[in-house]
Amino acid sequence: MAISDFDLIEAWRQVLSLSRLQAGQTVTVLTGPDTNPQTLRTAVVAARGLGATVCRLDLPPLNGEKSLSRDPLAYVGTTPLTGNPAAMAALKASDLVLDLMLLLFSPEQQEILESGTKILLAVEPPEVLARLVPTPDDRDRVEAAARRIESAHEMRVTSAAGTDLRCPIGQYPVVREYGFVDEPGRWDHWPSGFPLTWPNEGTTEGRIVLDRGDILLPMKSYLQAPIEMIVEAGYVTSITGGLDADLLNDYMESFGDPEGYAISHIGWGVQPRARWSTLSLYDREQTIAMDARAFAGNFLVSLGPNTEVGGTRNTPCHIDIPMRRCTVALDGVEVVRDGKLVSEGGTP
Ligand SMILES: [Fe+2]
Repeated sequence: MAISDFDLIEAWRQVLSLSRLQAGQTVTVLTGPDTNPQTLRTAVVAARGLGATVCRLDLPPLNGEKSLSRDPLAYVGTTPLTGNPAAMAALKASDLVLDLMLLLFSPEQQEILESGTKILLAVEPPEVLARLVPTPDDRDRVEAAARRIESAHEMRVTSAAGTDLRCPIGQYPVVREYGFVDEPGRWDHWPSGFPLTWPNEGTTEGRIVLDRGDILLPMKSYLQAPIEMIVEAGYVTSITGGLDADLLNDYMESFGDPEGYAISHIGWGVQPRARWSTLSLYDREQTIAMDARAFAGNFLVSLGPNTEVGGTRNTPCHIDIPMRRCTVALDGVEVVRDGKLVSEGGTP
């Protein structure tokens, strides 16, 4: 259902206040052809209302002819900022960038953050933003789970469907996604609600058995039948199953990039207001499916790049797979059991 400008301005005010936006700071709103006009105008009103100086930087799209999908996450790595020093200068000179376009997984995003600028991504439809407007509790929940990952050496994932995956961890930092940016140089995504990290390069072993009802992104499909992925030395080496496996194989082969098969970020959802079923209620082009990535008790495994944590694997192919009914253990201690958060483990 539609959201009033008033409600969305209030949601922005909450996000910007939690992001410690101060009067006199500069906010640049980064937009593209797919930016939601209500999200844009309410962001500008809310930022001005808090006393910020507001700029808008509108950039033309890129990679449309290369991508097989209209999803903004379907072809990552290069963005309209690639080779665009004038735009980069404007963003680095800002205190806060509101990314209503989607810079994720670009080296340019990392460069902007290193200048101390904060970046908050917000591309979900207005009603999703309003339903999942972040709170301090969301941060505490994600922080607690992230600290658990930071103190562990291995994440092991099992399921009744047959998943048994061992991911040594510790090489890469743990990313906290709770929906606002309260520190200089911080990136976040509204809405969110999960910690994630990357396994040590070349070490993940085992198999992932995706079950009926697990979700493939950017396909935005609920699997109708299982898919089995064999993982060796950090890469998926085979994908077998029925029609869903054929579709996934064909899609991934289109990139012609072996790096797209690397295990990318891993973590689990802790957001109680996000729902597994939401994606079934939307047309595929209306959402990027953050509910699916964040719902409490999922195991989110992904394939592709590691540039988000400073790695060099800048592949354009990125697959996110929220799985249900998994058990996630850190050094043998369960934090998610059969798809449910274990108290004092998955959440504070
Ligand atoms: Fe991802």
